[in-house]
Amino acid sequence: MSEVAAKKEEKPRKFQAIRGTRDLLPPDTALWNRVEQTAHEVFGTFGFGEIRPPIFEPTELFARAVGGETDIVSKEMYTFEDRPLDIKQPEFLSQYSDYLQLVQSLYRKGEIPQTEENQKTIENFSEWHEKFAATEGKGSGITQVQFENFENALYRMVFWCERVHLGPQVSLRPEATASVCRAYIEHNMQQLPQPVKLYYMGPMFRRERPQKGRYRQFYQIGAEILGGPDAPAIDAELIEMLMTFFDKCGLQGTELSINSIGHAADNCRRGYVAKLREELLKVKDKLGADSQRRIETNPLRVLDSKLEHEQAIIATLPHIADHLCDECKTHYAAVKHELELRGVIYRENWRLVRGLDYYMRTTFEITAQGLGSQNAVCGGGRYDGLVELLGGPPTKGIGFAIGEDRLILSLQESGKGAAPQGRDVYIAWMGERAYATAIRAAKDLRNAGFRVELPPTELKFGKALERASKLGSRFALILGDNEVQSGEWTLKNLATSEQQKLTEQALLEYLHGL
Ligand code: HAM
Repeated sequence: MSEVAAKKEEKPRKFQAIRGTRDLLPPDTALWNRVEQTAHEVFGTFGFGEIRPPIFEPTELFARAVGGETDIVSKEMYTFEDRPLDIKQPEFLSQYSDYLQLVQSLYRKGEIPQTEENQKTIENFSEWHEKFAATEGKGSGITQVQFENFENALYRMVFWCERVHLGPQVSLRPEATASVCRAYIEHNMQQLPQPVKLYYMGPMFRRERPQKGRYRQFYQIGAEILGGPDAPAIDAELIEMLMTFFDKCGLQGTELSINSIGHAADNCRRGYVAKLREELLKVKDKLGADSQRRIETNPLRVLDSKLEHEQAIIATLPHIADHLCDECKTHYAAVKHELELRGVIYRENWRLVRGLDYYMRTTFEITAQGLGSQNAVCGGGRYDGLVELLGGPPTKGIGFAIGEDRLILSLQESGKGAAPQGRDVYIAWMGERAYATAIRAAKDLRNAGFRVELPPTELKFGKALERASKLGSRFALILGDNEVQSGEWTLKNLATSEQQKLTEQALLEYLHGL
């Protein structure tokens, strides 16, 4: 077989969605739309407006807001360099010299990131380029040592050249609270009537180990309240809105857990963390590797541990509620009171600490049924100070994000999934003249809001009726020469097989009246 023929025989590669990502398909997408529509409606009744931030932002924004030590920022972000379009890295050795000059000049003009790291990298690139130039072109007959020097200089020059940042580091958003705060500052929203209430929905990205209810591209529906006072009624009303939304979606078996993690001061959370670390050090040997590491990096996260053998140890650790300052204690008690006023049922969970650094005081999570180990369908909390941390004015903040994938999964598990969408009318036409009428009928029926299927080619009636049933159509509109001539169309009810003759006007009235 010739090479060309062999190539033809070769099957083209089949592509699959990347691990941790998936296609959302009909009929499921109807449920997604219903859930999103419910969010628009419920959040609207609480005075929230929609924000649509970009899907990628500077990496530094997430590092600063979510915390550089968190799993999300240190391991899970999809990060890349947003390079200018017209800079090409060298392909041949002869191009390195020009490329170095270009990079140096762009750096001086501030057209590539003027960071300390980049400056050092360009210096190293320059130094090894000089050494490389000195060893290059020595001709044949070079000694082993000369060759090794040349090889070493070349390797290091290329190494540093590739490390020059030609553009800022950007990341696909792992969450949206940081973006909303950035937008609040960027658009001077502190000048609007406070607080500003915003909600969003859309994809987020985290490189986590995929499993049921955990994806690398997943969807959140979130809401944030920025500015104004930190009145406990704000915390409670936000949670009330969330529970109303879940209720309207028909979510079953929801459980709301709340906690207060105080604020960062010696007489409050910092004092507690020191005490916790002290206690954890006493039992360090009995803890797993993750918890041992967290004693140093973030002892609060040890409380999050799901490891079976750590549970008995964690149960003996001090509770944060006993170490809150008076103000945080009062705030927490008032939040609980406000929830009770609204009839919101909650459970206190002293171990609820959350995995993002920006939280203070109120934290909460909601679990739902049918989700296995990934049963948190929503998480949120207060984050006074985050806007300031991102360069804005001192601003109170609180919000939540719902895992939409998990919400949908739970609804489906409890039988609230969407049924495949059938058609109202399948138009079975035969003959040239009937076809023109069929096109007009399809247009009129669709304008009236009915789901209509118009086969693109002529089919025998038997075949057409078979297709109509397969598509879950309620009716077949039969259009042949007779119908066109008489102006009386035949409508067949596919469930009962009953047929009736109707004019176009009568048909529309009949369908509307169902
Ligand atoms: P979070 O707890 O990281 O909080 O995420 C909120 C929810 O997103 C989780 O409860 C879960 O339902 C869903 N989720 C997280 N990761 C995944 C994943 N890999 N696959 C599927 N679903 C996932 C935040 O993101 C904060 N920004 C919430 C917030 C808003 N706090 C204040 N304002």
